[in-house]
Amino acid sequence: MSERQFLIAGNWKMNGGPFEAAELLEGLRSAKNEISEEVDVLVCPPFVSLGMAVKYLHDSDIQVGAQNLHFEDNGAFTGEISATMLAESGCNFVLIGHSERRQYFGENDETVNKKAHTALSHKIAPVVCVGESLDQRKKDTHFDVVSDQVKKALQDISDSEILDVVIAYEPIWAIGTGETASPEQAQEMHAFIRAEIAALYNEETASAIRILYGGSMKPANAEELLSQTDVDGGLIGGASLKADSFSEIISIAEKLS
Ligand code: 13P
Repeated sequence: MSERQFLIAGNWKMNGGPFEAAELLEGLRSAKNEISEEVDVLVCPPFVSLGMAVKYLHDSDIQVGAQNLHFEDNGAFTGEISATMLAESGCNFVLIGHSERRQYFGENDETVNKKAHTALSHKIAPVVCVGESLDQRKKDTHFDVVSDQVKKALQDISDSEILDVVIAYEPIWAIGTGETASPEQAQEMHAFIRAEIAALYNEETASAIRILYGGSMKPANAEELLSQTDVDGGLIGGASLKADSFSEIISIAEKLS
């Protein structure tokens, strides 16, 4: 049994303005008011709902994270949000390099690395997302692709900082498609990522870092995915938008802890 604690994280994507967020969090707390100390739970609503979520969850064990940040601290960057602002709003996690941001908003390995450094310097834990496309998996280049993403994302992150980083493996072909990586495929890639971390840092760091799986995780498949040795939690999109399904996944993680 590893000492790594499950992290069950909900990425709401562009869903849930303040009113809807309040409703969803209300539902989540009534479905799951008590959360085991052995499981960490995180919700990542859109920016405009962060303040409300932090306020609403201040007396709960559920943590709040953002879905993105800018790597500069302030200045003429219309429409962007800085790490200082996130920290001030009460966020302690931030998603970085989600495939949707890479695909639609020009995010690349270089900006992912800059953002990870910025988050860490503001004591916000970066959840760095990596994962291959269907084409890359078919061409059997998925390990190379993920290895490259991991190395570039973590460039110059120190031995002490790395312990605050969370990696999320999200195969693009499994996101929002209803298609899930098989538990074996997830385990294989998670073990590979852990070996990469061991090579970049050391065995101790590799065994401490959390690697989440994301891509159509839901109550029906959460148990088999979370049972894999190197799967330390989930980054959940669609199923985190329903209080019942998200709380069910939390309960599964509690049972497996
Ligand atoms: P789905 O759970 O909707 O497939 O989304 C996964 C995801 O992209 C989480 O970041």
